[in-house]
Amino acid sequence: MKNIVRTAVIPAAGLGTRFLPATKSIPKEMIPIVDVPMIQHIVEEAARSGVTRVVLITARHKEAIENHFDFNPELEAFLDDKGKKELAELSRSLGRLCQVIAIRQKNPMGLGHAVLCAEPAVGSEPFAVLLGDDLIDSDVPCTQQLMDIYQRESASVVGVMQVPPSEVNKYGIIGGKPINTKTWHVQQLVEKPAPESSPSCWAIPGRYVLEPQVFDCIKRTKPGRGGEIQLTDALQLLAQERRLLAYAFDGVRYDTGDRLGFIDATLAFALKRSDLRSGVVVLLQKHLNKNRN
Ligand code: UTP
Repeated sequence: MKNIVRTAVIPAAGLGTRFLPATKSIPKEMIPIVDVPMIQHIVEEAARSGVTRVVLITARHKEAIENHFDFNPELEAFLDDKGKKELAELSRSLGRLCQVIAIRQKNPMGLGHAVLCAEPAVGSEPFAVLLGDDLIDSDVPCTQQLMDIYQRESASVVGVMQVPPSEVNKYGIIGGKPINTKTWHVQQLVEKPAPESSPSCWAIPGRYVLEPQVFDCIKRTKPGRGGEIQLTDALQLLAQERRLLAYAFDGVRYDTGDRLGFIDATLAFALKRSDLRSGVVVLLQKHLNKNRN
């Protein structure tokens, strides 16, 4: 029987320097898109994909992330007493979303290192990786789309999206042989290549389903770009030793760790909400008119 993916690793130990000063004392992942912290969107995507265990890779001063997925009896009792049952239930539902295991990454030594920190909790099962600041809005959760490919092909798979050549230097980029219009057999991975040496314009924004053999690949990976242990470099080893696929997922991706990406996501999610849409449209018109005068 094929292994079912039941664990998701969510690396959230980075320093969030692109979002200073907000991230000086608040974890970047707790900054809300409208009223839902970024990390909640990510954990909900994992849960909607069938994941039952989330391994959060956290760091000092990031306890707020764990607390968000626990019960808060004082708050919930207060809301119950005030007759605000729906809000009390909303708070409790986050404590029930899935089992959360938190592991500290003691120094931010890179995404590959952060994933390796999850090994004691993941063991020898396949697992999903979702980056804490990449939001993907889709009907079928992106992680579910990758899990479907994993189940069908019994191979590790990375989610990819097409980016303009001028932006390849922001991502891990794949190269390889197309299997069909949406799937590739990956032969090459490069972290943040220069546009002229990039193997393609297909970028990995932060969704993976990986076989546990990747842990061994990470252990053999030397620090790369920025002196960090890059997951992309470990995946290059995995691609050489096993079959690695890339899949062009359906969905819209927002880089919420970047200021403009964050504003983009905030507007998109607010405009999708029936309780906010008309108010947001009025506000946008007001500000646009003001700037015109
Ligand atoms: P980023 O580079 O986007 O996040 O890493 P960052 O380091 O927090 O932010 P900037 O670039 O300084 O603004 C992608 C994801 O990997 C995690 C981050 O928390 C983020 O979710 N990460 C990165 C770790 O968990 N550990 C690391 O050592 C590096």
